[in-house]
Amino acid sequence: MADATRVPIVGGNWKMHGTRSHAAELLHALRAALDGITDIEIVICPPTPWLADATDALSEGTLQVGAQNVHWETEGAFTGEQSAAMLVGTVSHVLIGHSERRHVFGETDEQTNHKFRSVIDAGLTPILAVGELEAEREAGTTEDVLRRQLHAAFEGLRTLPIGTVIAYEPVWAIGSGRAATPEIAQEAASAVRSIVADRFSESTGALIRIQYGGSVNADNASDLAAQPDIDGALVGGASLQASEFASICGAFAHAHRLSEA
Ligand code: PGA
Repeated sequence: MADATRVPIVGGNWKMHGTRSHAAELLHALRAALDGITDIEIVICPPTPWLADATDALSEGTLQVGAQNVHWETEGAFTGEQSAAMLVGTVSHVLIGHSERRHVFGETDEQTNHKFRSVIDAGLTPILAVGELEAEREAGTTEDVLRRQLHAAFEGLRTLPIGTVIAYEPVWAIGSGRAATPEIAQEAASAVRSIVADRFSESTGALIRIQYGGSVNADNASDLAAQPDIDGALVGGASLQASEFASICGAFAHAHRLSEA
């Protein structure tokens, strides 16, 4: 059972999908289905051109808006990029270290660290994604990979803001329809928590929220939500349909209520 002291957080990562009118419809439907829920936090991460639309559409409600990417400098000649400072006022959260950034765009651990720190410096909340490749899991090195990615992202930090979210996303489970089993997800989330506790403090480890991501859907969300170290989900494909995403949010809200009972 999840820990009642940690409020679950579910993120919807739309990636590079949709049209402006589809985004408007989806935001409307998400607000209708999920606004006012306080058992969990919900963060919607649309593509950059619609971030401000999302902020407007969700204003004065409980749904929050996150960006999918950021550059680590505050300003400068960086065509096509946006700084964390520029996102302040529009978003509350920023995804960092997503496997598509790492493996499709070649982002290094060092760049992930710069981005992570720039988001914290700007006063925004990072959602830091880590996770192993299939070959790394088969080689038995999952925990080493998680430790390397986390330590690299934390380089130069003396403390970790307690609001920080870490998403455990095995690369082989993302977009594959092959979610990790609840046991595998729990084992990795527990390893992430220990690594954070060792690097910062026991209380940081105990308070930080850890999401699972990778082919989460309405059918598998409840079993994932029942795991003691899984405090939410980072949802890709299933976040593009309001009813499916709402079911996933409902599963985590239900698990949280059970943990409080
Ligand atoms: P998926 O994506 O839910 O489509 O597997 C998850 C993610 O990339 O965060």
